[in-house]
Amino acid sequence: MPDKWQQYLRQQAELGGSEIYLAEAAPAEDAPARPPVGPSAVDWQKGAPPIPGPGLTIDLPAPDLLGDGLGTLETLDAIAARVAACTACGLAQGRKHTVPGEGDPAARLMLVGEGPGANEDATGRPFVGAAGTLLTQILGSIGIPRESVFIANVVKCRPPQNRKPLPDEAAACLPYLRRQVQLVRPNVILALGATAAEALLGGRQTLGQMRGAVHSYGGVPLVVTYHPAALLRNPNWKKPTWDDVRIARQLLDR
Ligand code: URA
Ligand code: URA
Ligand code: SF4
Repeated sequence: MPDKWQQYLRQQAELGGSEIYLAEAAPAEDAPARPPVGPSAVDWQKGAPPIPGPGLTIDLPAPDLLGDGLGTLETLDAIAARVAACTACGLAQGRKHTVPGEGDPAARLMLVGEGPGANEDATGRPFVGAAGTLLTQILGSIGIPRESVFIANVVKCRPPQNRKPLPDEAAACLPYLRRQVQLVRPNVILALGATAAEALLGGRQTLGQMRGAVHSYGGVPLVVTYHPAALLRNPNWKKPTWDDVRIARQLLDR
């Protein structure tokens, strides 16, 4: 099957980044992972939107106020160990593996998804299914190797039937994510989808309202975009996603 994402990017390059590519089938769940597009596959700067103005400001609690002594944990591995033993919400029951997140502990870009699905629960790693393959390609399209970012989720244990995490589950797990942000100290956070954006920004706005602004999360610029799994279902969101990630990419250089 042709690589639709690369095809889309090539088209965007030819059209100056302003046209929407329509219609495509989702790759099969077992499709082989493809290498990232790479920085030279497309000039992402061509037609990139300007950096939008400021949005919401979220203050993070000081480390000693995070609860459960999380502020005393000084490494991502220490957080992962706490997560592995966590029973703070009902999601602990059904899990095979916790999925604490992974990547470069000094990443300049941090991604936040919703929570583990079946593949993630089976492997203990974030974004390893079809949505993960697409995510790797999206990063590649703005010249960012996946290994260079840190990828986390709102909840670290798989919700049954892949349902959205409930508000109390997200709230129970959020201190881990906050501590991860404090330790990684990224230059930019990219929230993937409404669940992540709501959990991080307080849930008072829709995804549409949260996109198109540069929020501040504990002082870190935060951009909101669609979830890769949603993109696989709705190709109309590709162009806005392409714009969002190019905003995030520009913020990395700022
Ligand atoms: N093409 C895709 O398949 N996904 C995107 O997000 C953008 C273009
Ligand atoms: N995989 C993840 O790790 N998180 C998501 O939100 C979706 C898939
Ligand atoms: Fe603990 Fe988070 Fe897992 Fe709930 S989802 S049990 S809070 S690690």
